[in-house]
Amino acid sequence: MNRGPSYTIYVEELDKVINFVDREDEALWFRDIVSRGTAFPVTIYGPEGCGKTAFLRYMVRGLGVSRDMVIVYVDALEHFDVGKALFASYKEVFEFIQDLISIPLGASIARAIMSVVSRFAQRIGLEGKSVVVVLDDVYRAIGLDEVDRYTKSLYEWIGYLHERYKASNVAIVLTTSEGMSKRILSKHTYVSIYMMWNLPKKSFEEFVEQLNPHIDAEAIWMHTGGNPRATIDLARHGWSIDKWLSKIYEDRIRRAVHIIGRDKILQLAENPDFDWAIAEKLEELNLMIELRRSSAISQIPKKDLDLGIGEEWAWQIPAYRYAITRFAKS
Ligand SMILES: Nc1ncnc2c1ncn2[C@@H]1O[C@H](COP(=O)(O)OP(=O)(O)O)[C@@H](O)[C@H]1O
Ligand SMILES: [Mg+2]
Repeated sequence: MNRGPSYTIYVEELDKVINFVDREDEALWFRDIVSRGTAFPVTIYGPEGCGKTAFLRYMVRGLGVSRDMVIVYVDALEHFDVGKALFASYKEVFEFIQDLISIPLGASIARAIMSVVSRFAQRIGLEGKSVVVVLDDVYRAIGLDEVDRYTKSLYEWIGYLHERYKASNVAIVLTTSEGMSKRILSKHTYVSIYMMWNLPKKSFEEFVEQLNPHIDAEAIWMHTGGNPRATIDLARHGWSIDKWLSKIYEDRIRRAVHIIGRDKILQLAENPDFDWAIAEKLEELNLMIELRRSSAISQIPKKDLDLGIGEEWAWQIPAYRYAITRFAKS
């Protein structure tokens, strides 16, 4: 497939450089909102490790440097390295940040970023410029108590940058992997929520090939459902699905089995839509995720119980339901 010069990603866990794959539908969506601006902050949620950060970094760099566009990307979970925590298309944004730096870096930049943009606007002006602010995994960094207040303030900033500084358009994009913040935001009208999904099968195969697996590609797909981080994790376990599932059980599932109860969790492993209230609890534990098909920016696979995908609910990766059926039954 020809998609121009390739963009590479360093996978730290495997000490390997790979090519970024796909995300063409999502890229169209992103370019569209950047060119039109957003009336409200836009939040993207999706399974942990599905590739939100990789996608946004790819898009932000792909927008190119232009004097007409002010681009800022903040990784709110980065604690120490300012080069990772912040990308900005104007050096002045970096300069303003220098005065404000405190640890944890990403979270403090996320809190300060709109006043930095405003200081930048006072100095350089925004008239006729587009402003794109991407705040990655911000809610986990600032805490659930601040979800409402923070998001509302971003909404107000959009209006302010238009009125006070005559920005031609402003787009604010946030991400979250975490079900509670999405639920809190759903109550409000000043934010739009979109869903991103794991990679589709074909692109996932392209991704997996680069990791040189020595097990069957279909088995990888059936256990990860196209989730890149889960696949990297499986590779770190020497591609042993057994070892990986045992680890997942101990790290993530055992606690959930005790909290939710064995019978109930087994019912949801068979059918993700079986019980909404329990699915919500499993979403709080970041094991399941509510499917919002009408606001998806990715292709979402059709209902497929083997992959743990129901109508309204899905397991974030199929491995969770395999770990449950294998270890919780006994
Ligand atoms: N489209 C992609 N192409 C290649 N690798 C990807 C892609 N998306 C994600 N990855 C890999 O998977 C890892 C996890 O993705 P990440 O963006 O951190 O997930 P999220 O932010 O949704 O939790 C990344 O470090 C990257 O190595
Ligand atoms: Mg991320």
